[in-house]
Amino acid sequence: MDVFVIGGSGLVGSNIVDLATKRDVTVQATYHRSPTDRTDMQLDKTNAERTASVLRDVDPDVVVDTAAFHAVDDCENERTRAWAVNAAGTRNAAVAADNVDAHYIYLSTDYVFPGAPAEAPYTEDDPVSPLNYYARTKYAGEQAAQIAATATVLRPSVIYGITSDNFVTWALNELDAGNELDIVDDQVSTPTYAPDLADACLEIAERDLTGLYHAAGPKNLSRYEFTVTLAEVCGYDPGLVSPISTEALGQEAPRPADSSLDSSRLYEALDYTFTRPRQAFQKLHNDRNN
Ligand SMILES: NC(=O)c1ccc[n+]([C@@H]2O[C@H](COP(=O)([O-])OP(=O)(O)OC[C@H]3O[C@@H](n4cnc5c(N)ncnc54)[C@H](OP(=O)(O)O)[C@@H]3O)[C@@H](O)[C@H]2O)c1
Repeated sequence: MDVFVIGGSGLVGSNIVDLATKRDVTVQATYHRSPTDRTDMQLDKTNAERTASVLRDVDPDVVVDTAAFHAVDDCENERTRAWAVNAAGTRNAAVAADNVDAHYIYLSTDYVFPGAPAEAPYTEDDPVSPLNYYARTKYAGEQAAQIAATATVLRPSVIYGITSDNFVTWALNELDAGNELDIVDDQVSTPTYAPDLADACLEIAERDLTGLYHAAGPKNLSRYEFTVTLAEVCGYDPGLVSPISTEALGQEAPRPADSSLDSSRLYEALDYTFTRPRQAFQKLHNDRNN
C-alpha cells in the first residue's frame, strides 16, 4: 500500500508518517510552509493544477488529507483563505485522488455540531449545524470529499500529541515555565490522541473502510478537566490551572458547549477503543522524557 499524506508537517500527518514508516508502509508526505524531516515535497492544495499533477506523479493507493486552516478564530476574519483551503482545496485534493483511483481519507471536525449539551454525544446520524465559519468550511470539505468514488470522512475532536504544536504542547510549555493557566470549563469534547487517529487512518486504508466515522477519544471532559489531568499525570501542580468561562475568555468564534462524539461505529469497525486521556498523557510524558 502506497500512502500519500497531505499535511505531513502537521500533528496528525507526522504521526501517520511515523507509524507508516514503523510498519514498512510506503509513505510520502507534503508540507505547505514548514518542511520537516518527515516531508518529501511542498504542496498547496488550493492550487488545483499542482495538486492534480503531484498526485499523477506519485500515483498513490491512498491519500490522507490532513491539511487545513484550522485557527478557528482567525477563520472568522480570514474567510476567503478558510474557504480556499478547507472547502475548495479539499475539493481539489478529492478530485486529484479520484483521478488516480486512490482512496481519499478526509479529516473533518466535531465542530460541525452545534453542541447543545442535551444533544451530546453525537453520532454519525445526528444532523450537523456549524456554529462558526471554520466549521462551515470543514463541512463543505466533507461534502467535497464525496467527489472521490472511494472516500472516508473522519471527525476527530481536540487532537493532541507531541510531534508538533498543539494545545497540549502549549500547556506543557506553560507549566514548565511555572505559568498559571486559565482554561475554559464550559467547553466539553472527546479529545483525540493523535497516534490513535494516525493508526485509524492506516487501518481504514488497509481495510478499505469508506463512509463517515466519528474518530474521537472515549472520554468526554471539559478543556479545564483535560488540562488538570495533564498537569497531574505529568507531575505539575494542578493548582496552576484555573477554570474560566467561555464568556470571560471572549473568543472571536462561537464554540459548541459540548461537541462530544460517540465513536463506537469506528471502534467496532476497528475492534479497539482509542486511548483515554490519562493513559495517553502517561505515554506522552514518557515519550517526552526519553
Ligand atoms: N487539531 C485539532 O484539535 C483538530 C480538531 C478537530 C479536527 N481537526 C482537523 O484535523 C486535521 C489535522 O489537524 P492537525 O492538528 O494535524 O493540523 P496541523 O497540525 O495544523 O497541520 C495542518 C497541516 O496542513 C498543512 N497545510 C495548511 N495549509 C495547507 C494548504 N493550503 N495546502 C496544503 N497543506 C496545508 C500544514 O502545512 P505547514 O505546517 O507546512 O504549513 C500542516 O502540515 C485538520 O483537517 C483539522 O481541521 C483538528
